[in-house]
Amino acid sequence: MSFKKHPRQYDLVLFGATGYTGLYVAEYITTHFPTDLKWAIAGRSEAKLQNVIKECNALNPDRQPPEIEICNLNDADLATLAKKTFALITTVGPYSRYGEHAFKACAESGTHYFDCTGEAVWHMTMIKKYEATAKASGACMFPQSALESAPSDLLAYSMASTARSELSAPVADVVVELHEIHGTPSGGTLFTLLGLFDIFSFKDVKKSHKPYALSPVVNSKLAPKPSLFSKWTGLHTIPNLGLLSTSVTSGTNTAVVQRSWGLSQQEPSLQKQFHGPNFTYREFTRARNYARGIAMHYSIVVGSLLLMFCPPFRKLIRKYVAQPGEGASKEESKKEYVKFRGVATPDTQPPSGKQVWSKAEFKGPLYSMTAAFLSEGARTLLLGEVKLNGGVYTPSCLGQGFVDRLDDAGFKIETKVIDA
Ligand SMILES: NC(=O)c1ccc[n+]([C@@H]2O[C@H](COP(=O)([O-])OP(=O)(O)OC[C@H]3O[C@@H](n4cnc5c(N)ncnc54)[C@H](OP(=O)(O)O)[C@@H]3O)[C@@H](O)[C@H]2O)c1
Repeated sequence: MSFKKHPRQYDLVLFGATGYTGLYVAEYITTHFPTDLKWAIAGRSEAKLQNVIKECNALNPDRQPPEIEICNLNDADLATLAKKTFALITTVGPYSRYGEHAFKACAESGTHYFDCTGEAVWHMTMIKKYEATAKASGACMFPQSALESAPSDLLAYSMASTARSELSAPVADVVVELHEIHGTPSGGTLFTLLGLFDIFSFKDVKKSHKPYALSPVVNSKLAPKPSLFSKWTGLHTIPNLGLLSTSVTSGTNTAVVQRSWGLSQQEPSLQKQFHGPNFTYREFTRARNYARGIAMHYSIVVGSLLLMFCPPFRKLIRKYVAQPGEGASKEESKKEYVKFRGVATPDTQPPSGKQVWSKAEFKGPLYSMTAAFLSEGARTLLLGEVKLNGGVYTPSCLGQGFVDRLDDAGFKIETKVIDA
């Protein structure tokens, strides 16, 4: 299938190609995209961009290298860059520090946009500032399209699709579990996490982690309340998933999943993927046993408090962890993997006695998984597969074609109907 015709110089520009994540994206495009793709890598240092080209050439010497675009971090440079391309992927982070120029430029110039931020509070700020602009220009903006939030959103989407097709029912309570992860965060990721509370207040971050913080529609329906035991221990027992504990990314990811639910009531082409009027979402991490689950819960509580309220703690940690630009070696990261599990309860009266169970897995460098999410998202728009009017979207708005391409890239989702 060929890409959409458009009047711009490039199909795709990758801004931040010189970073740890950016290099994975450049390599993914080099090895997975058609050779007639018109693309460029952008950043502030020509010498570093030339090195990226060398790395890509080594992977595929017969392929024409991408163009180089020098772009500094300011509104004028980003506006010029955004106007040259149909879609832009940016891996320049921390987004709460550096991300707004690219977001603004794309929203204003009608350029489709992808990023891998996990900073829901920044995402919330961008929606408030630029959603109306993006709707007016037709720019389709996809923040939080990475390992951290996209799997949750796509699992909820896939379970709801299966409930619709196999049980003719919407879904109510949906639970996703981070089952296992083996990976090393990059210096850029740690720098982002450690710097978040230098920029945003605790109050703003808390607000952005409320279930409907990012959703254009608010529901009075809330997820089942935890028992007193769960509140104190962090432990939950969920039928067909087992013993679970607190998830560090639950707040961020719930807000994205609930935004998908809200968007599907607003955008005509998304109405067919509405999860249901009583849809709620919860997210946990697998607990191997009671002691480990409780320990995990309290280490998250104490770690979060120190991060939020103790700047000397943040300063100290920064000294001992990987620095921006650094990350696991290619050899080390080949051993990485991540596994998710989920269950969805069909919304039927009387209860159907059935559930949709799901799993999603990826084996290989976890930053290459993020590269696949970003690149395949851009490809979905380049193919003209989805009919979105413009605005700020979530990964699941890219539909089944996107899920299928991620499957080819190694992120495999399976769903099945089981007894409740
Ligand atoms: N949510 C997720 O699952 C997920 C997954 C992957 C990454 N991420 C996020 O992605 C971001 C990048 O991570 P990373 O590990 O790739 O970071 P990194 O290796 O430090 O790369 C940062 C990139 O930003 C560029 N940059 C930084 N400051 C700049 C400035 N002032 N002007 C122009 N360019 C600038 C760097 O360019 P130079 O090379 O010229 O310095 C580099 O290309 C982080 O915020 C991280 O949290 C999130």
